[in-house]
Amino acid sequence: FRPKPLTGRRVLLTAGPTFEPIDPVRGITNRSSGKMGFALARAAQQAGAEVHLIAGPVSLDTPWGVVREDVETAQQMYDAVMQAVLNCDVFISVAAVADWRVDQTSTHKIKKTAEQTVPSLTFVENPDILASVAQMPNPPYCVGFAAESGELETHGEQKRTRKNVPLLIGNLGPQTFGRDDNEVTLFEQSGITRLPRADKTSLAASLIDEIARRLPDASLI
Ligand code: C5P
Repeated sequence: FRPKPLTGRRVLLTAGPTFEPIDPVRGITNRSSGKMGFALARAAQQAGAEVHLIAGPVSLDTPWGVVREDVETAQQMYDAVMQAVLNCDVFISVAAVADWRVDQTSTHKIKKTAEQTVPSLTFVENPDILASVAQMPNPPYCVGFAAESGELETHGEQKRTRKNVPLLIGNLGPQTFGRDDNEVTLFEQSGITRLPRADKTSLAASLIDEIARRLPDASLI
């Protein structure tokens, strides 16, 4: 009998993109299917954890036994995370959060008319959810994700230290969007670990094992 590695642990995850409105019918978003985050939520639940998943707009079913909360914007995701984070042991930030939102959203649909010029948008910065959680006085064990378009090894470690998290999981983004498999590299203070390419379900189970082994008091539970 092998005890489940996350028994008694509370895990909070974010997944999917955020959607930032321009007007009631338009918006900007990031490319993310939510598959990796949902696979991790399922794997954490199967590893014995109590799992709370905060999801941006995705078309995926809620994994069995997982408490899911749907949000749209980065600010809503930030508020939901801040509400939920106090009681959790692990925070896994998989969501592709929009870095900026539109400054003045229009309450009516911006009309395309012959006399009107092309509209221009100004943006304001969204809160960095992961960095905010990592900065808390007694933060949960924080895991970040990074999708890079190149030079993963340089950017991954830089991002880990910038966000101040013990573990950052990096992948080369454009090759994985919407796919069912992924290839990731783990960045931590002691160095990097490359995991072999695998489908997102089995990769999620391996990542949950890797995370569980790194938790404080991992051997006590
Ligand atoms: O800086 P970048 O967006 O590449 O960082 C990615 C990591 O930071 C992911 O873990 C993502 O969920 C998190 N993040 C966040 N809030 C933001 C931007 C990114 O939590 N506003």
